[in-house]
Amino acid sequence: MNSPLEWLATAVMTLDSGRRVTYLNPAAENLLGVSATTAHRVVLESLFPHCLALLEALASSSARDASFTEHEISIDTQHNHALVSVTVTPVDEPGSEGWVLEFRQIDQQVKIAREERMLLQQQANKELMRNLAHEIKNPLGGIRGAAQLLQHELGRPELFEYTKVIIQEADRLQSLMDRLLTPHRMQRLVHLNIHEVLERVRSIILAEHPAGLIIRRDYDTSLPELEGDVEQLIQVVLNIVRNAVQAMHGQGLIVLRTRVVRHVTLSRKLHKKALQVQIIDNGPGIPEEIKEQIFYPLVTGRPEGTGLGLTLAQAYVQQHQGSIECESEPGRTCFTLLFPFEREREVPTGRK
Ligand SMILES: Nc1ncnc2c1ncn2[C@@H]1O[C@H](COP(=O)(O)OP(=O)(O)O)[C@@H](O)[C@H]1O
Ligand SMILES: [Mg+2]
Repeated sequence: MNSPLEWLATAVMTLDSGRRVTYLNPAAENLLGVSATTAHRVVLESLFPHCLALLEALASSSARDASFTEHEISIDTQHNHALVSVTVTPVDEPGSEGWVLEFRQIDQQVKIAREERMLLQQQANKELMRNLAHEIKNPLGGIRGAAQLLQHELGRPELFEYTKVIIQEADRLQSLMDRLLTPHRMQRLVHLNIHEVLERVRSIILAEHPAGLIIRRDYDTSLPELEGDVEQLIQVVLNIVRNAVQAMHGQGLIVLRTRVVRHVTLSRKLHKKALQVQIIDNGPGIPEEIKEQIFYPLVTGRPEGTGLGLTLAQAYVQQHQGSIECESEPGRTCFTLLFPFEREREVPTGRK
């Protein structure tokens, strides 16, 4: 693990003159879904059985004796599928003839740009919601108070019904606003086992739905511990699982999956390892018209929904320096959470 290439986010592979793999950096292992040991000395054609474009890129670079870049080629390995651009450079130093291949994942570049935009927009949204909630809360208090006074002054009890509605609805709005202004409780960080969190959620949900719901576990039991806030993490998973159960009307399959993933960028920082938690259901999928907005506050597809469940989940995940995203089509909805194992420390203040 001494080569600086080990740290690159770009996937790098070297081939000998017989097109056999001589080196894969970890980013390449991740992209191709094979380990360097497995791929060692495997010929390129067997690694990418259907990728003519790659062979042509090799031929072109050799013919010109210069780097050659092929944009937007789709590579399929046994374990992975990705859209990449690849730069092939011939190497003809005596003793190490061959090629260097650099893969840049296109979907990933697009994704990073989209995430940056989302992050900015979320911050703007949060600010807007907070201001709005404050603005609404003040007159709300006035309305409620006035309705109460009115009730005292009303001579006719049959009119109480109306003041009661005003007061009740003011209270309902009030509690909605309070939830929008989620207080920033300090995180209580401990070293925890993510499976304990998932098991807690599993038993809560199964107690609520004793029949018709299957929650399957697909755990990587060798996972290291995660530093996090147990209550927040339970809330995150619970909100996601509850949505799935509601969408499926309590009937269906939910899979809770944990894995270690390598070389992921979270909050602009590259992590060698991260924890991936996936919550997958086989329900109807997220309605198309709200799919892009489900993490925004007040966006709901249910008549009795508040649209705050996923907003809160996202806020908590961000407090863990992690990420949350979702893919959904009818029959399969998958929420993917990523958490760094080691947290970025804030610079300590005060004395030692
Ligand atoms: N697994 C899922 N399957 C289908 N729809 C979902 C799923 N998860 C979330 N949704 C949709 O996203 C909406 C927003 O969820 P959420 O933020 O928790 O608010 P709420 O549950 O109060 O509506 C839900 O109303 C639902 O329409
Ligand atoms: Mg919800």
